[in-house]
Amino acid sequence: MKPSIAIDGPAGAGKSTVAREAAARLGLTYLDTGAMYRAITLAGLRKGTDIHDAKALEALTKTVELDIKNDSTGQNIIFLDGENVTAEIRLPIVNRNVSFVARCPQVREILVDKQRQIASRGGVVMDGRDIGTIVMPTAEFKFFLSASLAERSRRRLAELSAKGEELGLEQMMKEIAARDKIDSEREVAPLRPAEDAVYLDTTLMTIEAVVDAIVGAVRGEE
Ligand code: DC
Repeated sequence: MKPSIAIDGPAGAGKSTVAREAAARLGLTYLDTGAMYRAITLAGLRKGTDIHDAKALEALTKTVELDIKNDSTGQNIIFLDGENVTAEIRLPIVNRNVSFVARCPQVREILVDKQRQIASRGGVVMDGRDIGTIVMPTAEFKFFLSASLAERSRRRLAELSAKGEELGLEQMMKEIAARDKIDSEREVAPLRPAEDAVYLDTTLMTIEAVVDAIVGAVRGEE
């Protein structure tokens, strides 16, 4: 079976881009688990679900149909009840609400189940917050990517401005710090490195350098 790779870390650490490129270079399948929490958040916002109500979130997660496909470049395309919501799940309103949805144990149980099914085929690169600790504790390779808050905020701003959304650095730093806090302090599956994860501080690294480090580690030990 092909190896599986877990990539965890806080918002804006570059996980998605790095995970996608590493998967492409290694011939593995990429899964962005954050996109799944984002899709449920979008569904809740659209339906007017109270995102602080665990029971309502559980019912929502059970009723929506979530599908993830990989396009020819390996990018994840996310479908919510058959509709392609890949762009919409990155909207600032989703950014601001997703941590509340992701801390709900019932939502996590359903999504982690789905992620484990995908992981059981082997040969996946998954990025998220609890991949090395909970979703794929036996992954052959685990990485934890981080970067300074300012650098992570600058990266998120650059992504947004490429899409025509403008926000100040201060505001972005506040939003990311608030999300980090909820993600790290929640009771179920908080953000933390697995004991056997390789920690990479990417503050001063280019995306290519991070991908090279991961691909090199995997190839070196295959
Ligand atoms: O990586 P991202 O910014 O797309 O993640 C969106 C949110 O989902 C973020 O608040 C953390 C949460 N998340 C999680 O709790 N567990 C995961 N495996 C992936 C994301």
